[in-house]
Amino acid sequence: MRSKEKYEYICRNCGYSSPKWLGKCPQCGEWDSFDRQNVIIKPKRFADKLNDNSATSLTPLPDINLEGFRRIDVGFEELNRVLGGGLVPCSVNLLGGEPGIGKSTILLQIAGYISQTGGRVIYITGEESAIQIKNRAERLKIDSRELLIGTETDIKEIIRKIDKINPTISIIDSIQAVYDQEVGGFPGTVGQIRESTAACIDYAKKTDTSFILAGHITKDGTIAGPKLLEHLVDTVLYFEGDKDYLYRIIRGVKNRFGPAGEIGVFEMRSGGLREVKNPSAIFLGEYLEQTGSVITPIMEGSRPFLIEVQALAAPSGYSVSQRVSVGFDSKKLSLITAICEKKGGIRLSGMDIFVKILGGIKVDEAAVDLPMALALYTSINDLSIPAHTVVFGELGLGGELRGVPSAEYRIAEASRMNFKNIILPSSNAANLPQSITKGINIIKVSHINQAFNSLNRQ
Ligand code: TYD
Ligand code: MG
Repeated sequence: MRSKEKYEYICRNCGYSSPKWLGKCPQCGEWDSFDRQNVIIKPKRFADKLNDNSATSLTPLPDINLEGFRRIDVGFEELNRVLGGGLVPCSVNLLGGEPGIGKSTILLQIAGYISQTGGRVIYITGEESAIQIKNRAERLKIDSRELLIGTETDIKEIIRKIDKINPTISIIDSIQAVYDQEVGGFPGTVGQIRESTAACIDYAKKTDTSFILAGHITKDGTIAGPKLLEHLVDTVLYFEGDKDYLYRIIRGVKNRFGPAGEIGVFEMRSGGLREVKNPSAIFLGEYLEQTGSVITPIMEGSRPFLIEVQALAAPSGYSVSQRVSVGFDSKKLSLITAICEKKGGIRLSGMDIFVKILGGIKVDEAAVDLPMALALYTSINDLSIPAHTVVFGELGLGGELRGVPSAEYRIAEASRMNFKNIILPSSNAANLPQSITKGINIIKVSHINQAFNSLNRQ
């Protein structure tokens, strides 16, 4: 009966729910962000649940059986590592990324691998036709009777199909394209995304299938229906990369079954995504020893790799000088220029300053402070960093150098890539095991001035 239907209004941005329409969301401050949707009446009330044995049954910890718990190999070591050792059965995993970045490609590759190695996979696409998927599969050289393609978009129907087939994993591409008939509003609205995801979670926990959901990212870099989805699912992976480059990074931003913050590096080839086992080689591919260029080892999760930092400083033609940074936080750049000027004694006012992290990656690590300062210094003074040198360290506001975590890993990676000189904070240089520093020239510095002087002496 229509008169009995109840509605709620949900903020598209943050998921805040209100019984009436609001112009501005009191939680996130967005204007005109409320969509109307039906309230879903849950069939059971709490009191009824109390009588339900299954809902209240408790298991002593030693009786929980781990037999049969085996992570699923997705066919890429890089991705298995980001997941903490493979896909966990019964888990719901979200793969977010901008349109065109390669989500459907990698999902089909994962589907191909699992279905060709003894598993069964359902791949539901709400965005493409079965023909399009077939074409992509041909390109990726994937073929298996255990890979079942569906073009359904009704989540209840999808779950029904999954239940009939009992696959190892189910892929839904994308969560924004599916809908629940009981919920009002178009696919892609927060209410729809929430209910569809909840249906997958509910099903995954009851059975042993796991889900990978593809999610599109909005312009500001979050998954549409943002934080809400991230809270619901077990793991959140983001697909990153610059359209100008061929490589892609998958970053684990949340992981209930392993460490978050790990990354996997891939390259987009004509035959799909390929793992990059040696990212340093890619990011340093075209490195030239020149003014304003510094190599630094960064840590991404548990893994070190080398990247190139560049700076260019030139007298400004205008009254207001420019500060432009690509791949590096601009506030941090202002901070480093102020430290260089005030504590390092170089003149940067009246200069236009441009800095860039090469290879299209974004870096947000304190260890890049010193490399950035040295890149600026060499650019101003027309110097080059000595050959085969890497630099890392955090700068304090007094110009003092602070140690950073994982110094041994950074040094080991530099050494593996044949770098011989390492400029690093004194505190990091203390207590380094000999096995790591063998054959390496350690240049320890405790103040920005000392770091600048170490270049003059060369
Ligand atoms: P796609 O997986 O469709 O992106 P998403 O699902 O995230 O929107 O990837 C699309 C891009 O990848 C497209 O521009 C073509 C390119 N591509 C390749 O370079 N090689 C390939 O083998 C495939 C399948 C796609
Ligand atoms: Mg796609």
